[in-house]
Amino acid sequence: MTDQGRSDLIELGADWAITAEALVSQHATSEAFGIEQPLALDIGVGSGEATIMWARNQPGLNIAAIELHRPTMVQLLRALDNNGPPNVRLIEADATAVVRDMAAGSVETIRLLFPDPWPKRRHVERRMVNSQFLNDVANALRTGGRLEIATDWLDYAKQVRQLVASHDCFEAGDSSTAEPRPTTAYETRGVKAGRTITDLVFIRR
Ligand SMILES: C[S@@+](CC[C@H](N)C(=O)[O-])C[C@H]1O[C@@H](n2cnc3c(N)ncnc32)[C@H](O)[C@@H]1O
Repeated sequence: MTDQGRSDLIELGADWAITAEALVSQHATSEAFGIEQPLALDIGVGSGEATIMWARNQPGLNIAAIELHRPTMVQLLRALDNNGPPNVRLIEADATAVVRDMAAGSVETIRLLFPDPWPKRRHVERRMVNSQFLNDVANALRTGGRLEIATDWLDYAKQVRQLVASHDCFEAGDSSTAEPRPTTAYETRGVKAGRTITDLVFIRR
């Protein structure tokens, strides 16, 4: 991180970032967004180009962008500061803990665009989507709420489908209804490497 990045993180974060504690408290969330409306979680947003498009397309959603990597968080903060949509807040946190702590039925949509793939067999257990994560997502989503995942690793897509198929709380949705997105930074790399993109949509029963 540059000195400028560090100072932007503090200054712009004062306007656009909220704590994980505020996010999991429904009252504090509405206050932090300045409006009470359905909540969506965008997990591992990187520099957040897709988050911004989502927020512009869906002004009736409060979108919590959750990320751990500070240099990309700064890029999102700068974009938000430069005429960003008002319905986005950044949360610096481990998304697995945030999802686990959300109140039951408090979330409309949870989206993961290109979660870290951990392609090596010995690292597969580090993938974010596992049965504990799905339990936590099932708790957080309202009935009829959506889980959207995109990946450029066919093996990850297969693993997610298998996990969801053995979970009572979800049914497969129509992947063509996934929220439109710009090609993200990570997706570009996958496409250049010749990988196939899979979009997955699941509905909370
Ligand atoms: C492969 S990148 C994809 C970034 C972006 N979605 C894109 O498509 O370009 C995965 C992102 O997830 C973030 N990430 C990984 N684990 C996370 C966690 N536990 N909580 C929040 N973010 C996480 C990483 O910092 C990284 O920015």
